Amino acid sequence: MFRSLRFRLPALLLAAIVLAGLVSTAIAVSVSKRYAQTTLRKEAFRQLGREAQGINQIYTKHAGGKPPDSQELESASGDQIYYVRRAKGIDLFPGPTRAFTVLPRSILDFRRILAGDSVQFEFTPPGAKTRLLGFAKPVKLGPQVFGAVILARPTTRLNQGWLPFVWRLLPAFFAGILIAGALGWYLSRRITKPVLVLSDAADKVASGRYDVAVPRVSGHDEISHLSERFREMAAELQAADALERNFLMTVSHELRTPLTAIRGHVEALLEGVVEDEEARSYSLEVIRLEAERLERLVGDVLDLAKLDTHRFSLLREEVDLERLVDRAYSAFGEEARRRGIDYSRSITATPVLETDGDRVLQVISNLLANAFRWTPDGGRVGLALSQVDGTIRIAVDDSGPGIPLDERERIFRPFWSRDGHGTGLGLAIARELAGALGGEIELRTEAGKGSRFELVLPAMKSD
Ligand SMILES: Nc1ncnc2c1ncn2[C@@H]1O[C@H](COP(=O)(O)OP(=O)(O)OP(=O)(O)O)[C@@H](O)[C@H]1O
Ligand SMILES: [Mg+2]
Repeated sequence: MFRSLRFRLPALLLAAIVLAGLVSTAIAVSVSKRYAQTTLRKEAFRQLGREAQGINQIYTKHAGGKPPDSQELESASGDQIYYVRRAKGIDLFPGPTRAFTVLPRSILDFRRILAGDSVQFEFTPPGAKTRLLGFAKPVKLGPQVFGAVILARPTTRLNQGWLPFVWRLLPAFFAGILIAGALGWYLSRRITKPVLVLSDAADKVASGRYDVAVPRVSGHDEISHLSERFREMAAELQAADALERNFLMTVSHELRTPLTAIRGHVEALLEGVVEDEEARSYSLEVIRLEAERLERLVGDVLDLAKLDTHRFSLLREEVDLERLVDRAYSAFGEEARRRGIDYSRSITATPVLETDGDRVLQVISNLLANAFRWTPDGGRVGLALSQVDGTIRIAVDDSGPGIPLDERERIFRPFWSRDGHGTGLGLAIARELAGALGGEIELRTEAGKGSRFELVLPAMKSD
């Protein structure tokens, strides 16, 4: 389960979100801390300075009389009040000074107080533990400096400025994680659901069940593309599977037909049923023709199998293409005459190639056989040999029905035959052969008007 995308994707998303949250909180904390150390500190000194000024005024007003109650003043200001005496004997108030806490002079740079300056500093009062921010202001009567009044507040109070901010961040952080987590879960489900469905479908296809229903994924993203291609692939596999089965049936049917004919004639001959010489030679001729048909079928299947596995050897010989085209042409002359087909030949080049002549002839004959098969009586079939820009072209064109757009690729596949009468091997073999000879077969066709199949070979003598 933990290996499944369904789990890993949301987990990864959540981990990334938590990490991002932690990093941004850490940044927020450090920024607010620095803010506390500079801005809040400055602000604290400013407040302490104002209060020190006020307390200073109260002290000087009371000078020489009863000192004001520092505890009352402290609770009114919220900060601590200290006093530093210039020297023993120089007292602002006569009598005991217990009313306020007196600190030793060493607690601050007293020379600056004597010079009449205020002093901002940090200190720990003797016997105490907390560190304080202090603002000291000289207490003067006329030009005489008596000491300094210090207003102080614990440094920890600075944290009160930013810690609540961090605490307030926390729920926002968790709410963010919750929302992002839910969103991540939803998104990853959206992504993984079709992937899981596809993976199920792929399992079925792998086990040979091509009729799986691959659901359509909406949108134009990679997953919808993948599912579209997958659907096409499954359909092609299904078609290929059907073709193969169809082929097996065709082949066994094709094999059985001549075999049945041969057996029938052989039995008749054996039993002496055929008596006159003419009937006997007719039987023998049928047997010969049917055996030829069988041979051709078996040869085709073998050829294709060999071409498929590249265990195919080609001869290299000087081939006079004009003579070869002539041979192919005359093989169909009789059929053309019988069916009233306008059968023509055009030769505009007389190249000699180093190639396998029998194979070239096989390709041309295949193309011609197709042209004759699909051209209606009284139609037109042409054979042309030409040389164009380093290529030799042998074109077979006809006035047959042409080939619809969606069949133009399919017709070259093995076992594909529109009417089911042929084996569908002719063009597959022709294309494989053309490739083996270093060329290709080009097709130009217009449905309803005719087709032009062209064997294109490189004109260079292959070395
Ligand atoms: N000249 C053509 N005009 C129209 N359709 C053609 C033509 N040549 C081929 N085809 C189409 O291509 C299909 C495949 O041709 P191919 O030669 O591979 O097989 P076949 O002729 O049916 O069988 P085979 O050649 O093995 O006896 C044909 O069934 C036909 O539908
Ligand atoms: Mg054919």
